[in-house]
Amino acid sequence: MCGIVGYVGEQDATSILLAGLKKLEYRGYDSAGIALYNGLEITLDKTVGKLSELEKLVSNNPPKGNIGIAHTRWATHGKPSSPNSHPHSCCCGDVVVVHNGIIENYVKLKEELKEKGHQFSSATDTEVIPHLIDEYYEGDIKDAVRKAVARLKGAYALGVLSLQEPDRLIAVRQDSPLVIGLNGNENFLASDIPAVLDHTDEVYILDDGEMAEITDKQVEIFNVETAQLIDKDIFKVDWDPGMAEKSGFDHFMLKEIHEQPETIRKSIAGRLNETDIKFDEVNLSQEEIKSYSRIYVVACGTAYHSGLVAKYAIEDLAKIPVEVDVASEFRYRNPLIDENTLVIVVSQSGETADTLAALREAKANGARALALVNTVGSTIAREADDVIYIHAGPEIAVASTKAYIGMLSCFYMLAIYLARAKNKLNDQASAKLIKALSKLPEQVGKIIKEDTDKIKQLAKNYAKQEHAFFIGRKIDYSVALEGSLKLKEISYIHSEAYPAGELKHGTLALIEEGIPVIALATQTSVLDKTLSNVKEVKARGGVVTGVVFVGQEEKEQFDYQIEVPKTEDILSTILTAIPLQLLSYYIAVERGCDVDQPRNLAKSVTVE
Ligand code: F6R
Repeated sequence: MCGIVGYVGEQDATSILLAGLKKLEYRGYDSAGIALYNGLEITLDKTVGKLSELEKLVSNNPPKGNIGIAHTRWATHGKPSSPNSHPHSCCCGDVVVVHNGIIENYVKLKEELKEKGHQFSSATDTEVIPHLIDEYYEGDIKDAVRKAVARLKGAYALGVLSLQEPDRLIAVRQDSPLVIGLNGNENFLASDIPAVLDHTDEVYILDDGEMAEITDKQVEIFNVETAQLIDKDIFKVDWDPGMAEKSGFDHFMLKEIHEQPETIRKSIAGRLNETDIKFDEVNLSQEEIKSYSRIYVVACGTAYHSGLVAKYAIEDLAKIPVEVDVASEFRYRNPLIDENTLVIVVSQSGETADTLAALREAKANGARALALVNTVGSTIAREADDVIYIHAGPEIAVASTKAYIGMLSCFYMLAIYLARAKNKLNDQASAKLIKALSKLPEQVGKIIKEDTDKIKQLAKNYAKQEHAFFIGRKIDYSVALEGSLKLKEISYIHSEAYPAGELKHGTLALIEEGIPVIALATQTSVLDKTLSNVKEVKARGGVVTGVVFVGQEEKEQFDYQIEVPKTEDILSTILTAIPLQLLSYYIAVERGCDVDQPRNLAKSVTVE
């Protein structure tokens, strides 16, 4: 959803900005650009394509300077092209702007500015901003930016550099994330923490309606509307820079898959004892928990799929009805919310626009809002009433893996926590689940170590296919949905997931000779039924890979079989998801796809 970065200090800004963009490329990668003040003028270099294209463009004659802004784009208004790339400038080139977000009233503003003689060179919404700032400039850039943003409707994180005051950057935030990195004689602005992590672990996280004036020696935060100085706390980041590096893996996705034993360990650390779960950060009393007659879990994409697992777990253990909603639907559908409703929003980035809007909607309607979030200090984390951090560390690959596993781990703990508070789970049953939970890191490690070769071979067999199906019953079906999403988003194979028993109500018509079907078959109570569905598929020519618990006796039912270690049926998702991630990964590699940066996508979807 676009990444912006800015630098002011004593070092060469070009290399710092390009390195910062590299860390933000997961946010968008269809074009990139950089603007620097070189002591005389502002230079502007931009090009369509990935960041590597920009690096090539500037390699012969890198722009010189110690202050600048840069951008990597995910196109919304205007196709990917050089003119539509950021930074954008006003007619005279004196003001340059990078923007993440959408300006909803840009058409009207553009007309108004054109009438005043401004000339535009792109099809973007962003371009109105430098023109507006130029229009309002009367000797104080901060003031001009304030006046300009007062005219904007929509979402924006902005970085502004001007020729009139070339020793400072102005940053403004409204509904799009923005952090200011602090490092003595140099300071930064960025969409996200990884972009500054090589330089500093101290940041200001801007809130909506805040702006920053950034020089090499000083950062001041103001309220945009009133211009009042804000005394803001410095946020200390506890991620180490290596977490945002590939560390020898071919792709971030593979690295993040391999990190998953550690992800689970971190998510459960300090939260388990023999029979109980404690979340220090959650302030729900037993009385409150007892009062909840309904829970909504609201999220998008992979996070939504984690919510489907939560539904099974919470309903099964805590006996509270759970509805799972896609955030973009929830926010517009008048859900039945009152003070007896708990709304749980789930998000890796903590910035997803639809999930954030759903959270605000829920709170406005009187619900208590609990967030499961990975990114510490993100907007959703800050606005929710309570937060459970997933502790997966930075997730860079666009396709989510470790954050999903972290979400599942937290949801299982939450289900036990709610069940205990409602006296629905006795000590013995709770202890059994907690013991099984604490074994999961080791079991996930075993799958990665022992099944990878087999999965690589399977990927070779499947890589030429253009369609695939995933089936499963009960909690297996939730993982089928996630497996299917992973496959389509990184390999571009068309894929669908179905409850195994639903296939015969239409979709079976699509099964023909050679079609790959992945059947998740771990749920003991419905195993026979799932296996009957597998037979139906095989009878029509489907090539079936079964994902089963080790020791299950149905080998002859499948063409291929992937075995995962035995755990409690309800916890199976954390184990069965792993081979599906690896399978998608190796199929995508086999097909020569850009695994970490799949076409048309971006991480952290901050537009509706
Ligand atoms: C898929 C994927 C997306 C995200 C979705 C929500 O691999 O990553 O479907 O899960 O965009 O993102 P967050 O969790 O940041 O709210």
